[in-house]
Amino acid sequence: MLDQPINSGDKLDHYRIDGVVAHSAVATIFRAIDLRTDQQVALKVPHSELESDPTFADRFRREEEIGQELNHPGLIKLLADHDRSRPYIVMEWFEGKPLRQVMSEEKFTAERAMRIVISICRALEYIHNHGIVHRDLRPEHILVGAEDHIKLIDFGAAGQAAGRRITFTSISQLTGGSEYISPEELKGKRGDARSDIYAVGIILYEMVTGRKPFPESEPFDRTLSHPVPPREINPAISPQLQEVIYRALEREPRNRYANAHDFARDLEHLDQVGVADRAELWDWKKGRSSQPRKVALYVAMALIPIVIFALLFYFANR
Ligand SMILES: Nc1ncnc2c1ncn2[C@@H]1O[C@H](COP(=O)(O)OP(=O)(O)O)[C@@H](O)[C@H]1O
Ligand SMILES: [Mg+2]
Repeated sequence: MLDQPINSGDKLDHYRIDGVVAHSAVATIFRAIDLRTDQQVALKVPHSELESDPTFADRFRREEEIGQELNHPGLIKLLADHDRSRPYIVMEWFEGKPLRQVMSEEKFTAERAMRIVISICRALEYIHNHGIVHRDLRPEHILVGAEDHIKLIDFGAAGQAAGRRITFTSISQLTGGSEYISPEELKGKRGDARSDIYAVGIILYEMVTGRKPFPESEPFDRTLSHPVPPREINPAISPQLQEVIYRALEREPRNRYANAHDFARDLEHLDQVGVADRAELWDWKKGRSSQPRKVALYVAMALIPIVIFALLFYFANR
């Protein structure tokens, strides 16, 4: 086992390390060159103290197995390498930025957001058809490259039958990404492909409004309340696009898009989307209209003593 830190210029088996790309709780991602082929690669090297943890070792092995089964232009390709002195994952290098970074640097037009989400849906459709659920979709795990080509990464939480089950403690341990967890997972269910759809719904909402639908500090809000209607934040959003967002964010999985294919189809043919008269909109309007009425009532009540005083003053001086 290698315990010294890995630095730029070091060699790891057949790879020359060129730099650190990211550092997470579980692993470090390096940019490297395969010295046999001169090809640029990304290496995901788990922290050495985790290598001896059997649960983590299992999870890491599953991530690699799942990655090697999948082959789609919307997914980072894993490269098989059986000649390694320690566990790490070798991936194709992708020149791009995490969607999180693109979101903080640029404002999206609805058209661009929709194009990106359609590509995400195509990649999801592929993995779901292989019986795999990603389970950790968030803007950090979507790389955006030239011409908005996207690649989904990090299958560390992905699984087939036995997936992650979120408990109250695991929620408090989550460091980021709790905004993307579906209501059914929050309620302790295992979740399925439709939980991935929910996460993409949140991402689409964020891209077109520039806001998160639910505050990260209150993950359970999404099981009780509805977010501000997207069109109230950005009137350039069409009623049809708003409807698609609502269909992806349905609280009950059975009311949600059943698969990524239907989600993408609606985005591609927005003109054919029928706009429903939604309770989400009524609830929001009701909440809004009662607000000014309450204010008027308080003003009227505050005026009563002033009016009485003015009248008394008037009659007293006659
Ligand atoms: N194949 C790759 N090409 C380029 N950058 C990558 C690649 N894989 C990961 N990254 C970068 O590393 C970050 C963390 O990757 P991720 O797979 O989420 O690691 P972890 O499992 O440690 O969370 C990503 O947000 C991205 O910036
Ligand atoms: Mg990650």
